[in-house]
Amino acid sequence: METLRAITNIYLLFSLTFLSIRFTLAANATLIKPKPLKLKLHHPDTVFYKPDDTIEDRANRFLNASIDLLSYLFEKAGGGDLEYDARGDLVTDKAYNYASFFVNFSIGDPPFSQLALMDTASDLIWVDCKSLTAFDHSDSRTFAKYTCLDHVNVPCDTCSSANECMFTIRYATGGSSEGVLATERFTFESSDEGITIVNDVVFGCSRKISNTRKLMGVFGLATHRPGYSIVKKMGNKLSYCIGNLYDKDYKYNQISLGEGTFLDGAATPLTNYRGLYHVDLEGISLGDKRLDIDPNLFKRSTSYGKDGEAIDTGAPYTWLVSEAFYVLRAEIAKVTDGLGLTRQYDPHVWGLCYSGTRNIARDLPDFPLMTFHLGNGADLVLDTTSMFYQFSARMFCLAFGPSGQKGYDYFLVIGVLAQQNHNIAYDLIGKKLYIQKIECSLLDED
Ligand SMILES: *[C@@H]1O[C@H](CO)[C@@H](O)[C@H](O)[C@H]1NC(C)=O
Ligand SMILES: *[C@@H]1O[C@H](CO)[C@@H](O)[C@H](O)[C@H]1NC(C)=O
Ligand SMILES: *[C@@H]1O[C@H](CO)[C@@H](O)[C@H](O)[C@H]1NC(C)=O
Repeated sequence: METLRAITNIYLLFSLTFLSIRFTLAANATLIKPKPLKLKLHHPDTVFYKPDDTIEDRANRFLNASIDLLSYLFEKAGGGDLEYDARGDLVTDKAYNYASFFVNFSIGDPPFSQLALMDTASDLIWVDCKSLTAFDHSDSRTFAKYTCLDHVNVPCDTCSSANECMFTIRYATGGSSEGVLATERFTFESSDEGITIVNDVVFGCSRKISNTRKLMGVFGLATHRPGYSIVKKMGNKLSYCIGNLYDKDYKYNQISLGEGTFLDGAATPLTNYRGLYHVDLEGISLGDKRLDIDPNLFKRSTSYGKDGEAIDTGAPYTWLVSEAFYVLRAEIAKVTDGLGLTRQYDPHVWGLCYSGTRNIARDLPDFPLMTFHLGNGADLVLDTTSMFYQFSARMFCLAFGPSGQKGYDYFLVIGVLAQQNHNIAYDLIGKKLYIQKIECSLLDED
């Protein structure tokens, strides 16, 4: 019976044209509802299980990954050599862990099962083609290499002596991945148990991976080089929902690609700047109180060249322009002090930490919600588990930092913790980001 169901559930997505025909029909008759590709996101702890981890180890990785990400995004937004590179700092041994989710799919024919790190800041999908347990393209009937002569939309970084179209991705923290650009058949097992086959996906088949020892691939979801982008190929719509970053057993973290992707909630203007997705933050409230922060502090200004509000999934922390951060911190301290909580010394100096009982929601009952007011009236609403993180068994801290503290002032990044329990949907044609506060499990009920 299982086999039968799998067969009836095969959706062949040949091309964008085919997708748009399906969509046109749907717009009128609703006989055929466009069906997005929904994929489960695998929690990093289910990929790299570390039974000996203490809460402190984890909190340190959490912070280290967030600092690395800040420096990487800052470099990327400022141009220079890193402009077109995939994200690297997250995938070095020190920082791949804890904040980034993995996508599972199969590559080639016969299909080879592959895990790759989801990355909203890079556009290329690449997989390990070198190590013994990796994908071996010589076994696949559907593998096709690009040569330097036939690339049109896919720029080669270099040409090999055999005229192969080569890519090189250099990482901010020193690692790299190099190999040949090719196309392959990708097979996805959707979270609704359907099977989707996508032919001719552009990907990098990596022959040399340095300083990223444990990484087996990256699943890029940015779109700045259209020829590389699976999001473009699937119809320019993307969404993700991450319910709980701490719970490796939470089953409903997911992404969705293509027509039929759930675009609901309030829409805010979205810009794609040097491969980073940006939104306009206009203000922050705690409870009903709008904080007294000059809105110009949030404006992206070309005079700095490097600032703006990137929304990203690579790390947990949210980084604010320092002046805004200190206003926010003072307001939070006022509320927590009023609740009688005991302040603790913050090892990172700038932050705000309190004694706790290992349950942030219980330690902060009736704490007001925080709202990020984005352009056009869209709100990102944070409860205490999206504002604070567990630093140790007896202490929790604010999961925000001042970007100036790390030398990247005027740069703002909205991190994963702040995005928990929201469906975040990118409409790249309409240039809008849809934000809806939702329990991710509800997205499985169609
Ligand atoms: C749907 O198709 C019918 C004819 O089959 C047409 O009369 C109607 O206007 C169409 N509706 C829309 C919304 O396009
Ligand atoms: C985090 O970074 C600090 C300073 O660079 C380093 O000492 C520490 O070992 C790192 N911790 C983890 C868990 O990577
Ligand atoms: C990935 O999918 C394959 C095929 O469906 C499955 O055999 C494998 O166990 C999955 N891997 C993980 C980590 O879930």
